[in-house]
Amino acid sequence: MIADCRFPVFGKYSVTAACFVSIVSGDHLIIVKAYEINQFGIDKLALTDREVPEPGPGEVLIKLRAASINYRDLMVVEGTYNPKMKLPAVPFSDGAGEVTAVGDGVTKWNVGDRVMPIFAQHWIDGDSSEEKRRSSLGAGAYWDGVLREYAVFSDEGLVRIPDHLSFEEAATLPCAALTAWNAIVVSGRVRPGEAVLTLGTGGVSVFAVQFAKIAGARVISTSSSDEKIEKLKDLGIDAAVNYRTREDWDAAVLEIVGKPGVDHVVEVGGSGTIPRSLNAVRIAGHVALIGALTGAANFNPTTVFMKAVRVQGIFVGSRTMFEDMNRAIEVSKLRPVVDRVFEFDEAREALEYMKSGSHFGKVVVRI
Ligand SMILES: NC(=O)c1ccc[n+]([C@@H]2O[C@H](COP(=O)([O-])OP(=O)(O)OC[C@H]3O[C@@H](n4cnc5c(N)ncnc54)[C@H](OP(=O)(O)O)[C@@H]3O)[C@@H](O)[C@H]2O)c1
Repeated sequence: MIADCRFPVFGKYSVTAACFVSIVSGDHLIIVKAYEINQFGIDKLALTDREVPEPGPGEVLIKLRAASINYRDLMVVEGTYNPKMKLPAVPFSDGAGEVTAVGDGVTKWNVGDRVMPIFAQHWIDGDSSEEKRRSSLGAGAYWDGVLREYAVFSDEGLVRIPDHLSFEEAATLPCAALTAWNAIVVSGRVRPGEAVLTLGTGGVSVFAVQFAKIAGARVISTSSSDEKIEKLKDLGIDAAVNYRTREDWDAAVLEIVGKPGVDHVVEVGGSGTIPRSLNAVRIAGHVALIGALTGAANFNPTTVFMKAVRVQGIFVGSRTMFEDMNRAIEVSKLRPVVDRVFEFDEAREALEYMKSGSHFGKVVVRI
């Protein structure tokens, strides 16, 4: 039967939510919804029943309210991220919700707090490591993702949502925004007046535009669509190149900024774009290597050493970086660009939409 379960459930804590209740031998078991990958493929993504997890000592129960999609999530669901991934698994790394219950010893969080789980649950500070990287959400059974109604996280694995953001907006921050922040602020140390080149108008690139503008940079962006270029102009970019109509978009970028080229490139394209990105960057400039949208074949390193380019691989970021980013978002009142919000039962449609590449910024699923 379906009930609004506003009553103590496990004795230790209470759950406040409209949810499914099954009564088994006198006990109330709360059954909630979660998406599971049992077989790869968007059409195979299954909506299943799960019990509400109970927070142990040092843990927090979150009622998730929104999740956003990254290109990685598409790969995870389709089985191209890790074909050997242990199944079943709950997909998606980026979510936002509210604290519904806390386990013993938790003092940092209270019921009702609005929070986001961090992407790599064990990466609090410092450099990344194999162990920290492996704690990333949404790409394996152990670190189930956020496309579900309730989830338990360590009290260390959460950050507070900036007050001015909705759950849908906050759900875009843990991976896409933090990766862009890392590229522009942490690795890039972008200074006012420097020229930043961003590629395309996906989640990471649009956040990179926003952070680069906050840093006072001159932003040049590429896109396959004139319509999307108009939207980039609304975000304050200084110039744009349509990489469909200007196949030699690197030359077009150099025509705009002049020699010696841009100071920074936010590289999300991979093997199909890296040679042109390296051509567009100045000697001793910075290239943040983030993605491989066009593939990950080998590339010639000659330009890198001849131009003494600082090429930095980026892997999302730590909780400390996330907290710093949130302070900047709060002060600047930055609003994430949410292209479209799908309802929870439309998660498969949301993934198909993401796959079509027609989005500008982020695609969100309301939970
Ligand atoms: N290293 C990390 O920590 C990290 C974190 C997040 C993401 N990533 C990676 O970064 C990449 C982007 O992720 P995302 O989630 O932002 O993806 P996304 O939202 O799916 O971005 C898709 C957009 O990329 C643009 N694009 C595609 N091919 C392009 C090309 N040849 N040249 C320029 N732009 C192109 C298109 O923009 P237009 O329609 O405007 O042409 C497309 O709409 C992915 O490879 C992802 O795996 C890595």
